[in-house]
Amino acid sequence: MPIERDTVLHSWCVQAEWDASTIVGGRGARFWDAGGRRYLDMSSLAECMNLGHQHPAIVRAIREQAERLCFVTAAWGAGPRAELAGLLIEKSGFEGGRVFFTLGGADANEQAVKFARQASGRPHGAVIARDRSYHGASYGAMAFSGDSRTRSQVEPAAFNVWHVPPPYAYRCPFGATPPAEEPDPDACGALAVEAVGRAIDAHPDTAAVLVEPDAGTNGIVAPDNYWPGLRRLTRERRVVLIADEVMSGFGRCGEWFAWQRHGAEGRPDLMTLAKGLTGAHVPLGAVVLSRDVASRLEHQMLYTGLTYCGHPLACAAGVAAVHAYEDEHLIERSRTLGAWLFRELQAMQRRHPVIGDVRGGHGLFAVLELVRNRDTREFLRPWPDVHPSLRALVARALEAGVSFAVRGNLILLAPPLVIEESDLREALDLLDRLLATSEWS
Ligand SMILES: Cc1ncc(COP(=O)(O)O)c(C=O)c1O
Repeated sequence: MPIERDTVLHSWCVQAEWDASTIVGGRGARFWDAGGRRYLDMSSLAECMNLGHQHPAIVRAIREQAERLCFVTAAWGAGPRAELAGLLIEKSGFEGGRVFFTLGGADANEQAVKFARQASGRPHGAVIARDRSYHGASYGAMAFSGDSRTRSQVEPAAFNVWHVPPPYAYRCPFGATPPAEEPDPDACGALAVEAVGRAIDAHPDTAAVLVEPDAGTNGIVAPDNYWPGLRRLTRERRVVLIADEVMSGFGRCGEWFAWQRHGAEGRPDLMTLAKGLTGAHVPLGAVVLSRDVASRLEHQMLYTGLTYCGHPLACAAGVAAVHAYEDEHLIERSRTLGAWLFRELQAMQRRHPVIGDVRGGHGLFAVLELVRNRDTREFLRPWPDVHPSLRALVARALEAGVSFAVRGNLILLAPPLVIEESDLREALDLLDRLLATSEWS
């Protein structure tokens, strides 16, 4: 077999340091490498394999569609494309809306911004997004992302993108609470909404606000009042609200889409999807447009689209995925198991002073933020460094057959929604032991 290390340019790493096993198979919450070593997947790889590895119904749907028809462009109709669009509209309650298919999350966000700008009649209008956010790694999506690591590659202002601080209650960027006091999520949430309002004042040509409604890559879970506040504000100011549901969608936050926790009133104008849409079995993304935005575009020329948008193989996988979430009651399962996971992690926090904060609890997504000092909330390491003991913890976990995701000082827990409770228990017990036997000074 050719040695991948020498031939492939790998993403998000230093090439000379890339040294990973070759994965050859998987099933449910486990995957295995060429050497036969098995791993319990506590992050659904990139928080995308919500339905587990090699879901049989999705694999079958792809195979059957491949035998029928592999490809047709958007200039022609395709059965699975129409079926999936209908299912997404039904699950999101975007009656009268439309779906635009993309290849993944980054281009879904870029297309959503194009639609928001075109529909609002502000073709170059400003976009308000958040610091510490991640919306993808193509140029436009990088500009939307408030990621200090990529600022040297792209200047958001060049894309008329402006960032505001996030509703990060544990370290409220608006100083809602000093470190000595308990965080006040509602105060922080309200101040974060006000900050968006001020940004719109500063940029009167604002066309869109683009944020994740719940948990995401940055491990920040929005306080309960944040999304409803943002929805009210954007409605009043006639700005298109785009919910990036690339990670939070498809059960990850206990609902089909995270904004649904706030009822129909919380419905955004546009919603972007990827990852869980096919459970990552085939690349696919989507923008779901409200009836209002879709109707404003109805008689305008749409100068956009990529060759593979709405690829039949991917859409067939998407249809099978939606049915699998439904048939296996995975959205409800995520909510129940997620609540249990959250309680277990809170108990773990009481045993380990290094755990400063536990966030999540809406679905099978939780975050542990590690700190040097719980009283002062001093960072364990400055972003984006990873403490050597945390690196070692991940390596020891892999040795023991469990794969955990870490970003900076955060441990992200986002297993496939099909994970067995006994497997989740095993992973938590291991994490508990590893935290106890690590040196955190
Ligand atoms: C919230 C969010 N938006 C967008 C993206 C980009 O998606 P993709 O990698 O499919 O382009 C990601 C990927 O991690 C994400 O987490």
